[in-house]
Amino acid sequence: MTRKLFVTTALPYANANFHIGHIMEYTQADVWVRYQRMQGQQVHFVCADDAHGAPIMIAAEKAGITPQQFVANIAAGRKAYLDGFHIAFDNWHSTDGPENHELSKEVYKALRRNELIEVKTIEQFFDPEKSMFLPDRFIKGECPKCGAKDQYGDSCESCGAVYTPTELKNPFSVLTGATPVMKSSEHYFFKLSDPRCVEFLEQWTQTPGRLQSEVLNKIKEWFTKDEEGKGGLGDWDISRDAPYFGIEIPDAPGKYFYVWLDAPIGYLASLKNYFGKTGQDFDAFMADESVEQVHFIGKDITYFHTLFWPAMLHFSGRKTPNHVFVHGFLTVNNGEKMSKSRGTGLDPLKYLNLGMNAEWLRYYISAKLNSRVEDIDFNPDDFVARVNSDLVGKYVNIASRAAGFLAKRFDGRLSADLGVEGRALLDGLRAHSATIAQLYEEREFGKALRETMMLADRVNEFVDQNKPWELAKQEGQDAVLHDVCSVCIEAFRLLTIYLKPVLPALAAKVEQFLRIEPLQFADSARALGAHQIGAYEHLMQRVDPKLLEALFEAPAAAAPAKALPGGEALAEEIKIDDFTKVDLRIAKIVKAEHVDGSDKLLRLSLDVGEGRLRNVFSGIKSAYKPEDLEGKLTVMVANLAPRKMKFGISEGMVLAASHADEKANPGIFVLEPFPGAQPGMRVR
Ligand code: 2FM
Ligand code: ZN
Repeated sequence: MTRKLFVTTALPYANANFHIGHIMEYTQADVWVRYQRMQGQQVHFVCADDAHGAPIMIAAEKAGITPQQFVANIAAGRKAYLDGFHIAFDNWHSTDGPENHELSKEVYKALRRNELIEVKTIEQFFDPEKSMFLPDRFIKGECPKCGAKDQYGDSCESCGAVYTPTELKNPFSVLTGATPVMKSSEHYFFKLSDPRCVEFLEQWTQTPGRLQSEVLNKIKEWFTKDEEGKGGLGDWDISRDAPYFGIEIPDAPGKYFYVWLDAPIGYLASLKNYFGKTGQDFDAFMADESVEQVHFIGKDITYFHTLFWPAMLHFSGRKTPNHVFVHGFLTVNNGEKMSKSRGTGLDPLKYLNLGMNAEWLRYYISAKLNSRVEDIDFNPDDFVARVNSDLVGKYVNIASRAAGFLAKRFDGRLSADLGVEGRALLDGLRAHSATIAQLYEEREFGKALRETMMLADRVNEFVDQNKPWELAKQEGQDAVLHDVCSVCIEAFRLLTIYLKPVLPALAAKVEQFLRIEPLQFADSARALGAHQIGAYEHLMQRVDPKLLEALFEAPAAAAPAKALPGGEALAEEIKIDDFTKVDLRIAKIVKAEHVDGSDKLLRLSLDVGEGRLRNVFSGIKSAYKPEDLEGKLTVMVANLAPRKMKFGISEGMVLAASHADEKANPGIFVLEPFPGAQPGMRVR
């Protein structure tokens, strides 16, 4: 029976680019998904941006754009990472999409019908300086459970406790530093303490095989009440007061769903969006008992996914997750705080931009992963060793050792015989197929790779014993050489099957080289036989340890500034997002004129394709005559806030080059695009 799998990773907040922790989680889920697909299972693998919440609203406000635009900017940056690291999501959506608005309201209404929603007036922290209720993440203080300092208002990173901000000790506003004051307001609660919920969750969490044992232990703590009857499952505050970026609660004007209510529903919304695009029936799929719903998440969000989320689903009449697979964190150099010279961590985009092979990292991460909730560490020396000695040294080399002889001496044709010893070796490799498959299934990727490398060792021993390079020089050994090299290629094909979930791009190259169809797991049972393979092309480079130095090098800005010929040091390094905030447009100078009373400025009337002209004052009078500018194209900053000047309002800025010391090196040079540019085109 083909399994039907609905797989997700946690939805990342749309307030920052991915960090290495995201890439680790996506790699883990992607390897598992690719393995399932290689077994012929049907998988829908989706994710989305977690768009809502006060932090994103506040960040957008700071950037002077709408939260929607802010989220869109972040979303635009996702593809480079996902494609770069071969993460094969079927769909990427947003929790601000229409599907999520609709589904969240449906879930909420169903919970309300089930009498699991309660309105209570609560006292809540209010920032008197900023005049708004403080979101959990903008209050810090000491954890009420374990006393850890500097903890956020919703949960403790030290002991994992979830609580309300008012329980924090010595709270302060992160926005202004002010001590928050209490103010009352009506809030909506999901009654998790209702006996129906408690009973359901006890049964749901304890279902054998659903959750990892460490997760169950943690959950037990969360269920337990202390001697005073405190603790246990508490009701969950699911509303926030305006101003808030989120989904409005039905029949509750000015109230919004707390971001964590609609975020997991975003899993369903992304699937629904995907099904909408591909013409599949979402409701029928979600009603199908045989569908397995699987969430990959980090340990910090276990509470939300193993208590709130299944309860929300169950009591709104929906299917609950079959598995929540929890992983630990990824530390770099044992979490050592990196010194300035070593940088602050492992930036995945920098990794790609340095030209480092994404599959080195996929391999390294997978080699460290297991099915437990353990933290794993990225260690640069270990990384170089594993990639160079295992991946390249043991596996890739097998093909390069055999392919040359096959091409030169046998026209790329494999022998069908292979010899007794060779056949025994291959049978041995095939015999491990079921074990390796099971290890992938159980997310024991480290073990699956160790098993595979142990098999690669056997193949290399076979090569060392049979010495094809010597056979090639001996008279009358052609048939033996042919068998030995053919065994190597068949062994290489088998190892490629076992590695393909981790190394999809490399496997694709191998499939091309071997001239075979995309490898499935079941292909380990077959043999290539007298098949003709293609020309060998180099499959994978070794890691140059210098690349790791470059990867962890602090950004250029920290190096002593060097003056360029323009008389100025290079400005501080920026991210592409910083640049895209500046909206540069091609502008046509429709009119240029002197400004009465100014010996520096010209008044320009600029057409940027908006159906109106912009008025811009530009300090270029010393360099240009108005009539020389009229009709020309230039580049302007089109989203600069309008500025009131002595002579009127300036609605943007024209770009021009000049030396830092204009007196010693006079000259102003207005920018002009190459022919063909049209007014209004964006410059990027
Ligand atoms: O912790 C986080 O990064 C959240 N944005 C995860 C949400 S997962 C799901 F519920 F959407
Ligand atoms: Zn704590």
